[in-house]
Amino acid sequence: MNVLVTGGAGYVGSHACSALRAAGYVPVTYDNLSRGFRALAQFGPFEQGDILDAPRLLEVFERYRPAAVMHFAALAYVGESVEKPLEYYRNNFDGALSLVAAMRKSGVDKLVFSSTCAIYGTPDGMPIAETCPQSPINPYGRSKLMVEQTLQDASAAHGLRSVSLRYFNACGAHPSGEIGELHRPETHLIPRVLMAASGEIDAIHIFGTDYPTADGTAVRDYIHVCDLAGAHVAALRYLETAGATTALNLGTGRGYSVREILDSAGRVTGRAPVSRFAGRRAGDPPMLVADATAANRVLNFTPEWTEIDRIIASAWAWHRNTARRAIVATDS
Ligand SMILES: NC(=O)c1ccc[n+]([C@@H]2O[C@H](COP(=O)([O-])OP(=O)(O)OC[C@H]3O[C@@H](n4cnc5c(N)ncnc54)[C@H](O)[C@@H]3O)[C@@H](O)[C@H]2O)c1
Repeated sequence: MNVLVTGGAGYVGSHACSALRAAGYVPVTYDNLSRGFRALAQFGPFEQGDILDAPRLLEVFERYRPAAVMHFAALAYVGESVEKPLEYYRNNFDGALSLVAAMRKSGVDKLVFSSTCAIYGTPDGMPIAETCPQSPINPYGRSKLMVEQTLQDASAAHGLRSVSLRYFNACGAHPSGEIGELHRPETHLIPRVLMAASGEIDAIHIFGTDYPTADGTAVRDYIHVCDLAGAHVAALRYLETAGATTALNLGTGRGYSVREILDSAGRVTGRAPVSRFAGRRAGDPPMLVADATAANRVLNFTPEWTEIDRIIASAWAWHRNTARRAIVATDS
């Protein structure tokens, strides 16, 4: 059974393609390679194209006749979204509208969508349940919430059923070492800590040491990318068995501070990454931790990667893998 995977040449999308293939599906990657890497799309057919290009999308739907779609393609940097909001609304919101229109024309009625905890903004209480107020504080989060709301309307009006998966912090790499986290540019904490540990960058900046957390640094819920990928397959199966449109958090329910990540990276790599203190970044909440019980109830989903040292060891294995080095060398 073919599944169209937009953004399948990206970090999370490539791991979802690997999980789809392991589950017996054929993932068809559709990616414009603006942020992704051709070498990560290795689990099925690859079609280069933009989600905003309606004729090209329809051509790919026609050719592969997918039973469902997983939609990862997006621009996903909070800071960039503040500087270029129109680009974010166009790519993430118009892009999703274009995709949904192509699905309707092609008679495809099942969609798994990459949403984000950024839709919650700065919540008052922890952990964050799906019922918490949704008030994103940047264009990135707003563009994702707008898509979720559109999908609810499309479900009611047109029977297009979807699961919006609100990831917390994706992290780690596939145990094969062949795919892993690679962003252009890399802004995520764990890969940057490993870049500091391996001397690729001088030091890692800790933004904010005066938060109301146990050690003063920001706390996040890190969910391994293979767990995310498994949850996507579970969401697809839920839709295949007539599950109704819903939105679910994907996290572990456990938070780690920036300092705890640095300590773990030191243990895993045997090298203490050099860190420098910097002020808080605007719009960075002190703590984001998921109430992950709904995904467990609805999808029977339980994260398997719960030890932070094990998670960072998987990222470190990818960081040192020749496959990653080759991609980085070809790209630069
Ligand atoms: N990485 C995280 O921690 C995280 C957390 C929450 C949500 N998300 C969401 O998960 C999804 C995947 O994130 P990621 O970290 O893998 O990002 P990524 O940048 O690695 O992957 C996104 C992919 O989409 C492609 N793309 C972007 N715009 C496109 C377009 N118009 N047409 C076709 N392809 C396009 C890019 O080339 C890239 O390959 C995104 O939607 C992101 O918002 C990620």
